[in-house]
Amino acid sequence: MQGAQQLMKVFVTRRIPQEGMKILKQAGICNLSVWDSDEPVPRAELLKSVSGAHGLVCLLSDRIDAEVLDAAGPNLKVISTMSVGFDHLSMDEIKKRGIRIGYTPDVLTDATAELTVALLLATARRLPEGVQEVKSGGWSTWKPLWLCGYGLSGSTVGVIGLGRIGLAIARRLMPFGVKRLLYTGRGTKPGAKEVEGEFVPLDTLVSESDFIVVSCALTPDTQGMCNKAFFSKMKNTGVFINTSRGAVVNQEDLHEALSSGQIAAAGLDVTTPEPLPTDHPLLTLNNCVVLPHIGSATYATRGIMAELTANNLLAGLTGAAMPTELKL
Ligand code: NDP
Ligand code: DGY
Repeated sequence: MQGAQQLMKVFVTRRIPQEGMKILKQAGICNLSVWDSDEPVPRAELLKSVSGAHGLVCLLSDRIDAEVLDAAGPNLKVISTMSVGFDHLSMDEIKKRGIRIGYTPDVLTDATAELTVALLLATARRLPEGVQEVKSGGWSTWKPLWLCGYGLSGSTVGVIGLGRIGLAIARRLMPFGVKRLLYTGRGTKPGAKEVEGEFVPLDTLVSESDFIVVSCALTPDTQGMCNKAFFSKMKNTGVFINTSRGAVVNQEDLHEALSSGQIAAAGLDVTTPEPLPTDHPLLTLNNCVVLPHIGSATYATRGIMAELTANNLLAGLTGAAMPTELKL
């Protein structure tokens, strides 16, 4: 065991699964301080606690910008985020300071793809409405057109962002009898062959798809991409699903499209802000299913994400190769 003066200061912005904490503790090189709560660390506390840190473990709800980096000071070598998304990190500022970043790709792909399929089916087949009708006594008898929705068999599915998660979603949807799989992004993807994916411009995808699934990263290009013009090109029977980031969608435009009948339904695992206020207009609509950002939420996945986050951090502290480093 090294003396306290040789330990490197690490701040962890939240309680993380014990699998990750165990690795950090057993490494014996960290002087760990943890915001010991399931709720996000208050900004003032983050700025105070990060001071002098060599390593920072953070979550997607922590905005890591110049203010935090300045508060940390020149010791900071590594930021390890327990997420694959990194839109909460100010990349230019981090790069400028020569700080390395660890993140958690791949290990959450299956869980997130599975949740996306569940959300798509729940939205298209109106499961939350059905459950509510059973509980409230609205179920009077079997009726030919009551609670009818839309099926995947014979449909066209459009995936915006056929990356790791987008491809995993497509793989899971094809066996439902999908007829055409369209995708869009910055370029064609070799993996698309496996799902017979056709690379098309965004407008074609939007107007020809029965189901649109958004699984791209949030970037300046994708921010607000799903707006009034986007929804106006969708079919009236179209179902819109977003499990990427809330800011990809203009929620006022989505509300208008859903309430006017421009589109049939939407399922969102991600919103702006998070949590979505309980009086938000989207929550008044029967044709909008909103989940609390649970794409990767299986016990096993969160445990592995925490392990990877810890291993990335330790590698960053010791100058070793990280299992999954985000290349800047
Ligand atoms: P990848 O980097 O593998 O995929 C991201 C995809 O976004 C790439 O295919 C990329 O395409 C595409 N993309 C980038 N810019 C655009 C654009 N302008 N238009 C269309 N597509 C674009 O990441 P993952 O699949 O692992 O994760 C994707 C995102 O999912 C994460 O960034 C995160 O925000 C979100 N996520 C949400 C979860 C949840 O709990 N709901 C869980 C995990 C992730 P190209 O290669 O052509 O640039
Ligand atoms: C991520 O990792 O980016 C997700 O949003 C949460 O797992």
